[in-house]
Amino acid sequence: LEQKDAVEAARCPHAASRAHSLDTMPGPTNWPLVGSLIQLLCKGGLRRQHEALIDYHKKFGKIFRLKLGSFESVHIGAPCLLEALYRKEGSCPQRLEIKPWKAYRDMRNEAYGLLILEGKDWQRVRSAFQQKLMKPTEVVKLDGKINQVLVDMVDRIGKINVDGKIEDLYFELNKWSFETICLVLYGKRFGLLKEKVNEEAMNFITAVKTMMSTFGMMMVTPVELHKSFNTKTWQNHTAAWDRIFSTAKVYIDKKLKRNATRDPDDLIGEILQQSSLSKKELYAAITELQIGGVETTANSMLWVIFNLSRNPAAQTKLLQEIREVVPSGQDPCGEHLKNMPYLKACLKESMRLSPSVPFTSRTLDKDTVLGDYTIPKGTVLMINTHALGSSEEYFDDGKQFKPERWLRENSTINPFAHVPFGIGKRMCIGRRLAELQLQLAMCWLVRDYEIVETDSKPLDVIHSGLLVPKRELPVAFIRR
Ligand code: HEM
Repeated sequence: LEQKDAVEAARCPHAASRAHSLDTMPGPTNWPLVGSLIQLLCKGGLRRQHEALIDYHKKFGKIFRLKLGSFESVHIGAPCLLEALYRKEGSCPQRLEIKPWKAYRDMRNEAYGLLILEGKDWQRVRSAFQQKLMKPTEVVKLDGKINQVLVDMVDRIGKINVDGKIEDLYFELNKWSFETICLVLYGKRFGLLKEKVNEEAMNFITAVKTMMSTFGMMMVTPVELHKSFNTKTWQNHTAAWDRIFSTAKVYIDKKLKRNATRDPDDLIGEILQQSSLSKKELYAAITELQIGGVETTANSMLWVIFNLSRNPAAQTKLLQEIREVVPSGQDPCGEHLKNMPYLKACLKESMRLSPSVPFTSRTLDKDTVLGDYTIPKGTVLMINTHALGSSEEYFDDGKQFKPERWLRENSTINPFAHVPFGIGKRMCIGRRLAELQLQLAMCWLVRDYEIVETDSKPLDVIHSGLLVPKRELPVAFIRR
């Protein structure tokens, strides 16, 4: 045993004294050509893959291999294995490639952003954004912009509800997060929460939706074929990216122009001014920040609303904290959040119980010993946030919404059991911004509305990239 592995073996009960090869790793049926695809389809298909994967973890343990068609991956669902991976990570960790996005950029001679960059180029672009975007004291300065949009959102909820219910709440929340991220990134209000949404804003949001809904197909079938045959999917995908890039460029150019005449007065302006990235790199990086930040934040807010509706006692305690900290007549702001431990615990608990992004991935850049196995370079690892968060082994009463668990003095929760934003150097770069946005939204919403459940039937969850409710959220907003 090397010294590092000995330390790991002491810490992790799944670490072996002698690592086995990948071939001996357990996993579901591996039929020729299809692997476990048919079994997975029988378990409810790709939309239910999050449940199937939890079953597999129960059956095969903390680590197993899975082959779907020609795509093979190793799934890890134990905090100590994540910690081992984190400690061994190199300087430029890599996720699974998003080939359709790369194919578009290559075709149009555009750059890659943080979601798809690799190696030294990723490191360079990441470090241009990292320092300011990951620093709470910098990000908190965005509270004014975030609040501008929240004023509109709270107002809109008052106007569009029918007996407290809002039709397509998820779309409304997507418009809220889209409007917020655009204001933060481009300094531009699109007016998505207005009664009449202008055409440019609608085209922009529709283009992002189309781009997201067309790339999944090209992840499981060769993108080169779609491109060669100019399939409808490829056409729609490229047209959507064209629209996204052309709109984003207009506003980034405006920001750069403003920077040239006077000192920037916001976080993104400062990043643009200080970075040595080319214009092309900035276009791609900013556009991908936008793509990464819209539906994830909206989805997390949706689950917060749901969890609060099902847990009125927690909601009452949260309201009490808001009323104690935010003087009446004042708007909630970043400064208030410093004194709101219960609010932060509610968000953390909601993201544990109902994570938006069920898993992230890593492509190993060297042979790596994890637990009992030596896993070869090039293997794709899937890190299952959803399985970790819903495990009774790591969370007592794991099915219950208990914000208090995060506030216990002698908490035994392993930090690697709760990773809704990923881990290590490649963790979500929008994390601080998302947390600020969500915490402020919770303050505004709960202060002004009681969120009540309209039925108590179980809510089915499906996987469509993110974890989404299968039906309209059974909630209503009652003005306090
Ligand atoms: C990456 C979750 C909000 C931009 C990620 C990853 C996760 C994640 C799980 C992968 C991390 C890893 O592989 O270790 C979330 C959730 C959010 C959220 C749950 C909301 C609650 C945002 C926001 C932005 C953003 C607001 C933009 C400001 C990105 C980018 C990456 C990323 C650019 C790629 C980072 C890199 O590879 O260097 N996010 N995210 N995300 N996220 Fe987020």
